[in-house]
Amino acid sequence: MEKKLITAIYPGSFDPITLGHLDILKRASTLFDKVIIAIAINSEKKPLFSKKTRLKMIKDVTSNIPNIEVDNFTGLLVDYAKKKNAEVIIRGIRALSDYEYEFNMALINRSLEESITTTFLVAHQNYTHLSSSLVREVAGLGGDVSNLVPKNVIEELKRKLDAND
Ligand code: COA
Repeated sequence: MEKKLITAIYPGSFDPITLGHLDILKRASTLFDKVIIAIAINSEKKPLFSKKTRLKMIKDVTSNIPNIEVDNFTGLLVDYAKKKNAEVIIRGIRALSDYEYEFNMALINRSLEESITTTFLVAHQNYTHLSSSLVREVAGLGGDVSNLVPKNVIEELKRKLDAND
């Protein structure tokens, strides 16, 4: 019997991608045949980085992982997952406080589309305190974020902050 290939979606705003996200993504890439990291474009949010820059930053840091695709989507996550023939949604859990929100989101997504399963991966202990908004805040105030984000993100943060000077 032919082996069934499983595609998983790792959604988020990734504004910007951090080492915590990258850790989840690398783990997911060893568990599933294909992982699509998908930037959710929400017209009500005002991100620091444009869709184009977020896509570029993620492509740069994942170029050495063969089974990862980088994409973006609007609308419902489950509709996008169905369109991409993905059966799994991956979410990282950093602390117990993430769980309630993530649990509700998983239940809503399941009520919208029974065939798609949410899987939680435990964030690396080095990054449980980490979020994109903390990175933006620390970088904006001149702090060192080199142990929180990939190198190319540091460069993009510098470029962005210099441009806003
Ligand atoms: N390492 C570092 N940071 C992490 C992390 C990790 N492992 N896991 C989560 N985070 C942080 C993110 O950096 C982000 O930080 P910020 O709020 O400071 O920017 C925060 O946790 C939230 O994560 P993120 O996944 O980016 O945002 P979200 O929870 O708002 O995204 C979507 C949720 C995009 C998946 C969800 O809104 C969605 O599916 N939208 C599409 C519409 C839809 O289908 N809605 C119905 C279902 S709810």
